[in-house]
Amino acid sequence: MTGTHRLDYVASPGGTLRGTLQVPGDKSISHRAILLGGVSEGTTHITGFLQGEDTLATLAAFASMGVRIERVGDEVTVHGRGLHGLEPPPGPIDLGNSGTAMRLMTGLLAGQRFDSVLIGDASLMTRPMARVMTPLEMMSASVTGSARHTAPLHIEGGRRLRGIRYPLPVASAQVKSCVLLAGLYAEGDTEVVEPEVTRDHTERMLEGFGYEIRRDQGIALTGGGRLAGGGIAIPGDISSAAFFLVGACIASGSELTVRGIGVNHTRDGVLRILEAMGAKLELHNHRIAGGEPVADINVTASALRGIEIPPEWVPLALDEFPVLMVAAAAAEGTTTLSGAQELRVKESDRITAVADGLMRLGIRCETRPDGMIVHGGELTGGTVQSFTDHRVAMAFAVAALAASGPVTIEDCENVATSFPSFVGLANQAGLTVEERYAT
Ligand code: S3P
Repeated sequence: MTGTHRLDYVASPGGTLRGTLQVPGDKSISHRAILLGGVSEGTTHITGFLQGEDTLATLAAFASMGVRIERVGDEVTVHGRGLHGLEPPPGPIDLGNSGTAMRLMTGLLAGQRFDSVLIGDASLMTRPMARVMTPLEMMSASVTGSARHTAPLHIEGGRRLRGIRYPLPVASAQVKSCVLLAGLYAEGDTEVVEPEVTRDHTERMLEGFGYEIRRDQGIALTGGGRLAGGGIAIPGDISSAAFFLVGACIASGSELTVRGIGVNHTRDGVLRILEAMGAKLELHNHRIAGGEPVADINVTASALRGIEIPPEWVPLALDEFPVLMVAAAAAEGTTTLSGAQELRVKESDRITAVADGLMRLGIRCETRPDGMIVHGGELTGGTVQSFTDHRVAMAFAVAALAASGPVTIEDCENVATSFPSFVGLANQAGLTVEERYAT
């Protein structure tokens, strides 16, 4: 039953997480595999593709531009059409809830010979797009949005792009990737300079597809090259694993292994923060898959303590803060998050959403424009809003492990954007989460 019925989760209090789990493939890498596979020459075989609504929206977008794509479960074959082989889509491309798809595709589409229009759901249509429009205009692209610089984005094709050197005003991998993807089509060199390190999956995959990337002060490439398709084994998503890592830390008696997780240093902030809070984490079986470092992560329950999170770690744990703030609520002492204003423009305003939920569960916290302060304490049961944000929904399901009563989370449909199998895996691991359809 879906559609007009609201999906709520009811998570029972307590529980212990045990065993070995495998979470679905990385969302960021899955998007990029379709994008780069679509404009490569030859065939790209993807294993471990995330079958979530966001990444399936990217897949559908490329199919609508003439790319032949075969998918059987998490195995995808993309028959690339080369950098100049995409066809005009039959209408506006709907990217659902996915900011990554919209920002990366805007860069790629700015270099095509045809016009395109990008739209999304209510959340995506309010998210800031000036951050990609500004550098693309500097490259001589034409991208028009609403008066508030939001989607629908109208991208004019047939423009001659020129390379730029662009210092990013915000530490954003989406903006970096957007500019680099447009740079593939630009005359001369395109260079992006980051204020802080952000996830580097685009650069790694471009290199994996045979494109030269130069790293000096910034990340640079020269337009006019070619991409060669190949095989990509997508690692498990550390952002999905994070729910179980935090869960096992806060649920006494837990001992859990999450296998095959991407532990790229530009994404491992959740591990650094949990360790600084006193978590017992061990990484085993280090290997490289799909050009990315991968490991199995073992976690044992431990008493966490509050910390001041170093602001330079924020971009490395960006999507994990909803569940990290749940860890902070279950910890002893105070946790301070600062330098995290970007959380206000994610799928929801995550600072408001998380603080609202924690307060409904009896936790004292204060919000700041760029972060929040969480005072660890006793979590009660209660009803919280997800603000239609997948990561907020899953974080509060995990909170039930340390709560004294059931936690009801409203509006959990969007969990399907990044982690459709969450409830099944959570129950397998030792959480008790029930799905309820409300009218
Ligand atoms: C992503 C980058 C991050 C992250 C998002 C995925 C990516 O966003 O929050 O979920 O795949 O490049 P920003 O680059 O906007 O910070």
